[in-house]
Amino acid sequence: MTDRSSLSPSQVLDRVLVLEMVRVTEYAAIAASRLTGRGDEKAADAAAVAAMRAALNQLPIDGTVVIGEGERDEAPMLFIGERVGASQNGGPRIDIALDPLEGTTITAKAGPNAMAVLAIAEEGGLLYAPDVYMDKLAIGPGYPEGIVSLEKTPTENIKALAEAKGVAPGDIIACVLDRPRHEALIRELRGLGCGINLIPDGDVAGVIAVTDPETTIDIYLGSGGAPEGVLAAAALRCVGGQFQGRLLFRNEDEKARARKIGITDLDRIYHLEDLAKGDVIFAATGVTDGSLLDGVKRWKTGRITTESVVMRASSGTIRWVKGDRCGDPPLIVA
Ligand code: FBP
Repeated sequence: MTDRSSLSPSQVLDRVLVLEMVRVTEYAAIAASRLTGRGDEKAADAAAVAAMRAALNQLPIDGTVVIGEGERDEAPMLFIGERVGASQNGGPRIDIALDPLEGTTITAKAGPNAMAVLAIAEEGGLLYAPDVYMDKLAIGPGYPEGIVSLEKTPTENIKALAEAKGVAPGDIIACVLDRPRHEALIRELRGLGCGINLIPDGDVAGVIAVTDPETTIDIYLGSGGAPEGVLAAAALRCVGGQFQGRLLFRNEDEKARARKIGITDLDRIYHLEDLAKGDVIFAATGVTDGSLLDGVKRWKTGRITTESVVMRASSGTIRWVKGDRCGDPPLIVA
């Protein structure tokens, strides 16, 4: 048996964590799924957070949450800076971005695309993103680098993408969060004749959808949470595609929060490697059915089935994991 203490962080990512991460997202998804359609976002989120934390604390790592549930004084568990893992003080130092329940409202309403999400990298590999909005732009793999950019208008990006794809701009399908703040963007896309897949929530899945030809989505546009931007970037580092993000600040307080965590250039456009660099692993388990994953199903036999994906940047490996268990896992709530 491998002596884990002698492994470098990279080897730990490789040999130890890839599949163990799925257990972490499975626990969170199963816990949240008990609250699917129950109209209680907070309870669903709390269940996912407690389960993910308990599972993370069984991993043989010295982990630090860099994207989490909020600042230490706002979040009792999985706050930014919290140390997790069973091998603190001596285990490999790993940075963790997580969202135990990406899509709290979706879960409460039993809508599509809620997931438990986790990304890890070697220490320093993930951007400490403040909890502000981020303007996001993503396309799938196979296009020349830089054909779309946040420095261009949506119209310029759609035209460039259409030309590269060999179709008319009106044949491009965009994914956009259904929000009043996107009215002008939606009008502009409709003016070009584009199809728009308007999603109610859950832009991690929305961004990843551009990488899957089966979704027919060509481009993701618009603003959503910056932490979700880092998680989506981690996934695209593994599956390919292009992503750009720029932090959006609504007031001086948000700017001050960004500066406090070391962000000096507030207008910077972040590319994939700026958000998630080096070897990165991304794992997700569906809570509700979605474009990426099936949700948790509770069968009348008492069995619980799950679907998860775990992917790794350095190897480009993507593993789809179907879970089938008898009853809820023992969730240790610390
Ligand atoms: P929660 O799971 O925290 O509810 O986030 C869902 C989500 O839709 C994200 O996917 C997205 O980035 C963000 O909210 C958008 O924020 P807002 O609802 O303020 O537009």
